[in-house]
Amino acid sequence: MQNQSPTLSSGLTKRLAVGLREYEHRTQPWLGTRLINFLRQGMDFERRFLHDPLRTVPELSGRVSRSEQMHYGAQAKSHQAIADALVRAIEYIKGAAVAGEVIEFGTMSGRTASVLAAAMASFRHPGELHLLDSFAGMPEAKSDVDKAAMHVQSGAWAEGTLHGISAASLREKCRRYLPNERIVVHSGWLSETAGKIDPNKRFGLLHVDCDLYQSTRDALTPLFAQNMVSEGAVILFDDWNCNRASNQLGERRAWCELGHEYAIETSDGGDYSWSGHKFIVHKYRSRLSSNSDHGLETQA
Ligand SMILES: C[S@@+](CC[C@H](N)C(=O)[O-])C[C@H]1O[C@@H](n2cnc3c(N)ncnc32)[C@H](O)[C@@H]1O
Repeated sequence: MQNQSPTLSSGLTKRLAVGLREYEHRTQPWLGTRLINFLRQGMDFERRFLHDPLRTVPELSGRVSRSEQMHYGAQAKSHQAIADALVRAIEYIKGAAVAGEVIEFGTMSGRTASVLAAAMASFRHPGELHLLDSFAGMPEAKSDVDKAAMHVQSGAWAEGTLHGISAASLREKCRRYLPNERIVVHSGWLSETAGKIDPNKRFGLLHVDCDLYQSTRDALTPLFAQNMVSEGAVILFDDWNCNRASNQLGERRAWCELGHEYAIETSDGGDYSWSGHKFIVHKYRSRLSSNSDHGLETQA
């Protein structure tokens, strides 16, 4: 009996499977497939819908809620467009297997940081979220380039403006979506903090929202110099088209200079809001001198 039962049962299983296939084939081929899909969807329902972190992000859940509209007016639509771009960028690095952590320069209200955190949770990006800000508002514009910026001249980017929430509140906001140990807050001027990030880290998504030319240079130079930007990384500039979209000012000028200094090869991802613009980084030469003759090492 013991020897016979596996043969018997496997024979029965086979016959049953063939019978089911034939039944499906002869009667309603779509019914079984639909039933299976329905059950699968049911199992994913809780994860994808009921508990999807992105549903709690105001800009995305209600597609511009009444309170957002009341508070920000027409600008609420822009916030939504920016949030959408950040979510798509997280989806891209997950889907395209771009290595590395996520980093934001300029956190102020924690609005975009929490979108990034929610998207990382939603798409199950396993990395860290690095957040850098002075937590004291904008620095004094010292370079001639920044002194010529329209928002500096109007006072909108004057020293101490755009002073947002504290580092502790920012962490709390992001902890709604990510575990504490994956949130890394760097508090202080970018000229000091960006260069102190562990050079062994690699970044797959960089959100540059620190407005000024000098701040952008301070943020990005150490990362490119130390080979910390991954192949395929997406870099989003929130203030790209500020300053009448002049290439001589702001984030545009900083990126132009970095492009020459590090021979950065990119794909242009286009505008994603009235002021935002993104790129994919393919290749560049960092300044790691130890293992290259000419003091430059090629990434990717
Ligand atoms: C436009 S706000 C960022 C908005 C933010 N992403 C949000 O969702 O609310 C610009 C931020 O950049 C920060 N910032 C600009 N230059 C900086 C620098 N050199 N060092 C540190 N923080 C800087 C300011 O403190 C400010 O919080």
